[in-house]
Formats: sequence, structure tokens, C-alpha cells
Amino acid sequence: MNILGIDVGGSCIKGAIVNTTTGRLCSRRMEIATPQPATPQLVGEAVSKLVKKCDWNGPIGCGVPAVIQNGVAKTAANIDVSWIGTDVQRLLQEKTGCFCAVVNDADAAGLAEMRFGAGRGEDGAVLILTLGTGIGSALFSQGQLFPNLEFGALPLYGAPAEHYASAAVRTAQKLNWQEWAGRLNEFFHLAERLISPELIIIGGGVSSKSQEFFPFLQTTAKLLPARSENQAGSIGAACYAALNCDDKG
Ligand code: BGC
Repeated sequence: MNILGIDVGGSCIKGAIVNTTTGRLCSRRMEIATPQPATPQLVGEAVSKLVKKCDWNGPIGCGVPAVIQNGVAKTAANIDVSWIGTDVQRLLQEKTGCFCAVVNDADAAGLAEMRFGAGRGEDGAVLILTLGTGIGSALFSQGQLFPNLEFGALPLYGAPAEHYASAAVRTAQKLNWQEWAGRLNEFFHLAERLISPELIIIGGGVSSKSQEFFPFLQTTAKLLPARSENQAGSIGAACYAALNCDDKG
């Protein structure tokens, strides 16, 4: 099935048509800047522009950086606070005129990596961490997702860990790779005290630079970069929508 997969990020909104059976992109990747302030209305309009740019009128899967339950956003850590309580599924359907399934962005990236990437065939506990504007997390056991896990919100030095160790913090504070990896190690240590994954997969744009910081990382779990790098979010969002289309019969 072909589905338009969209990933709403802190700096840009990415989209591509995805073959959900193979996980391959069947269109060019389109990008549009995330509007500021990133309110649901403005993001909805930007998504609708992206859908037109892709010349698409079929089903859409959309990953957003918030806890999502039944299409409704429940948190807004790195986006405008007005997302909380917004029925994102309904909003995007109104703006685009297409069926939309909405999922947490890290859960989407995790679905893609478990199905087509570094987590393929892994039955044990797998933690996917996406390092970008925030820190996203997705936990799988026996291939099943435990949705809306927010490990980036774990407290570290009195604030959410993502304020200390995200990729955006590395850039903003001009940390070198080793300094940043030191912070990541503190975060991983915290995560591994709570759950004991057998594999940790690192996603987000920075996963394409894994050779720069992986040598400094220390985890009990095996560590791998995401195979689909920055595209995992769009691919996984499309796969999530495919599951929902199937459910609808
Ligand atoms: C949000 C998560 C999201 C992560 C990555 C965090 O600020 O709370 O829901 O997955 O950023 O975008």
C-alpha cells in the first residue's frame, strides 16, 4: 500500500510517499519549514501545503512530537502549548481532505526501524531513541510497541533530560562530540536503571554521524544507529496509517 508519511519536527516538516510493504520511498522527499509559532492551526496549514506539493490525495500517516491518544495530543514539550487537547487527527483531516492517522513521532520511527531497519527480527526489549530538537523514545517487546513512552522527560539535574542531552542542545551549547556523548551516557544510564533493553537504536538526523559519537558511548545494551536515519519518522508514520486503514477493513 502507498501512503504519504509525514514527520512534524521542530525545524521542518518532512514528507514522502512510502510503500508500506517494503518501507521504501516511492517519491522524492519534500520538506517545508515548521511554522513559528508552531500552533496546531499553522502546522495543519503547512501539512496541507506539503500534501499539495506531493500531489497526494490518498491516506496519510503523520508523526508529531507529542503523546497521542486516539488522535488527540496530550502533551506539548517542544511544540506550542496549544497542542494539548487538540484533536490532531480531525484537524489534519479537515485541512487536507484526506484520511489521516496520527502517532507520536518517536513511536513512528520505532515502527519503521523494527519493521525494516536495525530492529528487524529482534524479539527482546528494544529501545529506540530519536535525538533531535527533543529526545523521543519508543519501546518494543516481542515486536510490540508500548506507546507514548517519554524518556526525554526523565529528570536529569532538575530538568527534563532532553534539555541536557538532545542533539539541539549539542548545537546550541557548541559541545564537541565527546562532551555530548558524556551527557548521553548519563541519560542512557538513567534509562537503563528503569528498563533493561537488549538493544538501543539511535535515530534522528544525527544518526548519520554515528561514527563521530558512538565510540564514546557506554551502554549495557547493544547499540546501533537507525538504518533509515532521518527518514524513519516518515516511513513509520505511513506504516502506522496502513495498520489503521487495515483496521477499518
Ligand atoms: C516529546 C516527544 C517526542 C520527542 C521527539 C519530546 O519533546 O515530548 O513526544 O517524541 O520530543 O520529537
